[in-house]
Amino acid sequence: MTSEAKRRTVLLTGAAGEIGHGLVHGLRTHDDIRIIATDLKEIPEGTRSLCDEVHVGDVCDEGLMQQLIAMHEVTDIYHLAALLSTRAEHVPEIAHEVNVGGTWNLLKLAAAHSASHGRSVRFVLPSTIAVYGMDGAEHKERAGAVSEDDCNLPTTMYGANKLYCEHLGRYYSNHYRRLADDRGAALIDFRSLRLPGVIAAETKPTGGTSDFVPEMIHAAASGHPGTCFVRSSARIPWMTMPECVDALLAIGRADRSKLSRSVYNVAAFSASAGEVAEVIRTHFPSSSVDYAIDENRQDIVDSWPADVDCSRAASDWGYRPRWSLEEAFEHYIVPSIQTHYAKA
Ligand code: SER
Repeated sequence: MTSEAKRRTVLLTGAAGEIGHGLVHGLRTHDDIRIIATDLKEIPEGTRSLCDEVHVGDVCDEGLMQQLIAMHEVTDIYHLAALLSTRAEHVPEIAHEVNVGGTWNLLKLAAAHSASHGRSVRFVLPSTIAVYGMDGAEHKERAGAVSEDDCNLPTTMYGANKLYCEHLGRYYSNHYRRLADDRGAALIDFRSLRLPGVIAAETKPTGGTSDFVPEMIHAAASGHPGTCFVRSSARIPWMTMPECVDALLAIGRADRSKLSRSVYNVAAFSASAGEVAEVIRTHFPSSSVDYAIDENRQDIVDSWPADVDCSRAASDWGYRPRWSLEEAFEHYIVPSIQTHYAKA
């Protein structure tokens, strides 16, 4: 354990969510890191017990966030709290308040904390494929694997919020108070990953538009009939939760001098709902899937790219996808989900 590592304290927001659950477990394998976790909801016991402290509270609550950052001398922030794409379309104003307001609040407070301590705060923000906006099915097909700077025309509140937060983070990192005479070193070291649909075996997603795949998998594994709210041809990129956690930890630890940008695509494979359903059937032969199309959610998926180009993440900080669709089922999804439902 290095003395540098010993001094790191992570503030993790959205700890009761799916990625929060995975990331707390991933961070805990480095027991030299202190974890201060927050969420608006009660944090489940399995995650709570791995944290040094937990606080129920709102990321927009300036007083609470300031107290947590200052009291614990936070060095790293993993800011996961957000309203996902489907939920955000039902309450767009609240989504903006939480997704943008919460991020801005934390960036502001972290910058002030950093200024008074003379050490920049590392800020990791999960972003999303929802920042892309494809102009119809033909464009989606033609574009193939999109690069970070292409097609940045989101059609959802969630996508617009995350795209803006990426820019805000880059601003605080590289240009904050650029005209001030007393401007010193960077106060924030901002890094962000554009996550694809994430598939977890131990938890079920809520409020996202990529939920159609995890929902089908969990239905099959728990012996229930599955329903898919998009057409079998609907295709986006994916990764499993262990790969997502590893990628977030890796971007958090990456040597700043190797990072040529602040935002990177990551994904493991591209697959359509129908292709995933086929693999589900080979592992759970008695499972069934009924397609009940929600045209509005289909439209959202149609606006997201079929695949993303991860070459920048590969060359800057060594990102490598671990599993193909079939390997993900074989090595992670099936064994872990069977254990999960056997315990339930
Ligand atoms: N999983 C997110 C959602 O569906 C997309 O990144 O909203």
